[in-house]
Amino acid sequence: MSTPVSFPTDEQIPAAARVDASPWDRHWLCDGEIRTWTGDTAPVRSPVCVVRAGAEPEPVVLGRIAMLDRAAALEALAAARRAWDHGRGAWPTMRVGERIERMVTFTAGMRAAREDLVRLLMWEIGKTRVDSETEVDRTVVYIQDTIEALKELDRNAARFSVTGGFVGQIRRSPLGVVLCMGPFNYPLNETFTTLIPALIMGNTIVSKLPRFGQLVHLPLLPAFRDAFPAGVVNVIQGDGATVIGPIMETGDVDCLAFIGSSRVANILERQHPRPNRLRSILGLEAKNPAVILPSADLELAVKECVAGALSFNGQRCTAIKLIFAHADVADDFVARLAAAVDALAAGMPWEKVTLTPLPEPGKAAHLRALLDDAVAGGARVVGTGGGSQATFFRPAVVFPVAPAARLYREEQFGPIVPVTTFRELDEIDQFMRTSPYGQQVALFGTDPAQLAHLVDALVNSVCRINLNTQCRRGPDSFPFTGRKDSAEGTLSVSDALRAFSIRTVVATTATATNQELVGEIVTRRLSSFLSTDFLF
Ligand code: G3H
Repeated sequence: MSTPVSFPTDEQIPAAARVDASPWDRHWLCDGEIRTWTGDTAPVRSPVCVVRAGAEPEPVVLGRIAMLDRAAALEALAAARRAWDHGRGAWPTMRVGERIERMVTFTAGMRAAREDLVRLLMWEIGKTRVDSETEVDRTVVYIQDTIEALKELDRNAARFSVTGGFVGQIRRSPLGVVLCMGPFNYPLNETFTTLIPALIMGNTIVSKLPRFGQLVHLPLLPAFRDAFPAGVVNVIQGDGATVIGPIMETGDVDCLAFIGSSRVANILERQHPRPNRLRSILGLEAKNPAVILPSADLELAVKECVAGALSFNGQRCTAIKLIFAHADVADDFVARLAAAVDALAAGMPWEKVTLTPLPEPGKAAHLRALLDDAVAGGARVVGTGGGSQATFFRPAVVFPVAPAARLYREEQFGPIVPVTTFRELDEIDQFMRTSPYGQQVALFGTDPAQLAHLVDALVNSVCRINLNTQCRRGPDSFPFTGRKDSAEGTLSVSDALRAFSIRTVVATTATATNQELVGEIVTRRLSSFLSTDFLF
């Protein structure tokens, strides 16, 4: 039986969880300077509410964030453009070994800021301490792995190819100015899974911070400023229409790295006057189904579906967002699932809990409307979920969700677990064929023939099939992508280095004179590109 969440009074907030955001008040980074914005600002409201005498719980205001205007946004873009300097800037022409050294310096700054980053994640987006620590630490590991992957890439390029009468050296070169926009659910990790590979490949960056999870970037501004040449990394905030529209309309963005909705991605891409010059790396929405086959180990399936659907309150693009339970096992599965969901502990991010308040204003009302729609279509809420208090929404298992219900197709991105039934395996195939999304699926079963049938049916509809385990992005060496409205481009530690670069070749006919010429350039170390230097 679930209990209501309990918001704290001021005095009940432990010292080890408190954070003071005033040192970073209204900061942004432009052209190698940390600037303090004197124009419009907006309050940063935490999903965590406090209870004050005789009043309803009120979100804590953590500080104020700069709401940059068009001119400031264009100044940041101009700084990135200057640092790129048609590919002749200090950063894009720097030897890979030195770029790596700068990145190591940055990582040390990030490690030093760890506790601030963890606390800001807890307060800004309501992520539990354990998950906030994981987000920061996983990001540091991602940077280290990226450095190793770049060394490997560079070693493989430190040789000449001799083919068809030609000699050539092929390397990966940067693209230009990359606009990075991360999401609120992993504001640090997902922003950095594009920003870091783009940066280390020699691109220059404008990073627009997400709607929630902005403050968490600000303790890192000194590390960016100190590690990289001026203008190489610029960090801006503000209303998307005010700051991003004008940036895209210049046509000066060479690559858009955006994690968010396909609706916004399409708007941004259309704003670019020469779309042929824009490369897009997009991580978009998904409606990943889990399938419970009659042969499934129900205990395992329930455990994985609870984690898959409700980690960080269901606010993951990879979350399980609809469960197909075979009619023969659906009642048993749903009863176990509802009991497991009702047993989840709720509280504040610094407590030992799974469920926490939600950062999006109005989210509880939106989730309620989705539930009401499913119930009007014949489903019922199983267990004690569906209630809300201020910014908190108690997760609801809803069953059986009819195909006409919004929850059958719409991404809820929150703590609702819709379950529907099926009889024939083709129904799953049909769902994926008609879905606008194509990220992942999770199959639970022990019958090899049924699993093999579904794998073959679905493998060209999604980009990852998880067997007896929930959907997820990691490990970061695996490709992370999707079909249709779920993604464009592939990210993984090594794929991202490729995504933010282009293959460039210096070639000559393999005559004795040309070979001698190239040999002299290499032995006298006259070029950074034409080089056989080996990076250890
Ligand atoms: O929101 C999407 C994240 O990339 C999910 O990552 O599956 O490791 O939680 P995760």
